[in-house]
Amino acid sequence: MSSVGSSYSQIIHPKDYNQIMSHEHLYIPASDRFIAKKIRELIASSSEVIELGCGPARILSLVSKIEGINLTGIDLDSQFIDYARTFIKRTNVQIINADATKYVHHKEVDIFYSQGFHHHFPKGINTSNYLRNVYDNLKYGGYYILSDEFIPNYADEKEREIKIVIWYSHIIAHAIKHNFNYLAQEEAKTLLDDLFEGRINKNIKSQEQIEFVLSNVKSIDQSARIGKLDMASKLAEEFLSAIEVLHNFTFHGDAAMDLSRGDYKICDQAFRKEIQSTDFRIEDVKTFGPLKTIGAMSVYILRKR
Ligand SMILES: C[S@@+](CC[C@H](N)C(=O)[O-])C[C@H]1O[C@@H](n2cnc3c(N)ncnc32)[C@H](O)[C@@H]1O
Repeated sequence: MSSVGSSYSQIIHPKDYNQIMSHEHLYIPASDRFIAKKIRELIASSSEVIELGCGPARILSLVSKIEGINLTGIDLDSQFIDYARTFIKRTNVQIINADATKYVHHKEVDIFYSQGFHHHFPKGINTSNYLRNVYDNLKYGGYYILSDEFIPNYADEKEREIKIVIWYSHIIAHAIKHNFNYLAQEEAKTLLDDLFEGRINKNIKSQEQIEFVLSNVKSIDQSARIGKLDMASKLAEEFLSAIEVLHNFTFHGDAAMDLSRGDYKICDQAFRKEIQSTDFRIEDVKTFGPLKTIGAMSVYILRKR
């Protein structure tokens, strides 16, 4: 699974990214507000707070208004960072182009937080290295508020693919219903990227595959929403077979099509195993969405002990 690295801004313009995530996604806005609320509850005066993978400063703008906060946003993508600096002018915010795996803050940190960041990290050593770096930069008793998309528990990669199809169908069907066409297209591409990230022989997305996604999500989501999960899984399996037939290995010369967004979404069980290998304790979890059946945004409150 590849990291997004400095390529995300080649795939999507920062302004479009902020619009679809902050105003159109089914569950992200509620989890953004929860992160800000939680930080407000946890901080004392003059707290050092860092957002990992801040992107074009969507959440920095929300969190920077909290009184007594010294806020730092870090991201690998220099174009997102440039946009973030023009977007936020408050003196209590600094925005830094850095890698979350290596970044060392000049002071002990009270709170780290991230949104939609964890699933971009390649599994194994890369994930442990970044979690270790967060842990080392925190003061004792400090927090890492980690918010991301999670799918229901699965036993293996084949089952993960089925659950991934059901989750993205839910998000895309909602976008189509509300005429959020750009978001629907973007999530259709992300679904394909997420499937291919888990495979050895990686496909390159094609227009046929994207159209196939857009025309199939409604029926998959309808079954899942009314609790017919066996039917939703059957439809997802048929969907996966059809995507195979539409396979493509040819580049288009368009970054939005050729580059992977690097998404690889996991379940609560897999995440807990990653956390078990660190010294963090999971203090609380708040979910937005039907996690057990379809998927959700989950916000984990991790504490350094
Ligand atoms: C899906 S975006 C989320 C942006 C932001 N958190 C939000 O919710 O709007 C993921 C971000 O993580 C950044 N990223 C990925 N790997 C990184 C790393 N190792 N260090 C810092 N940033 C990273 C990407 O450049 C991208 O901007």
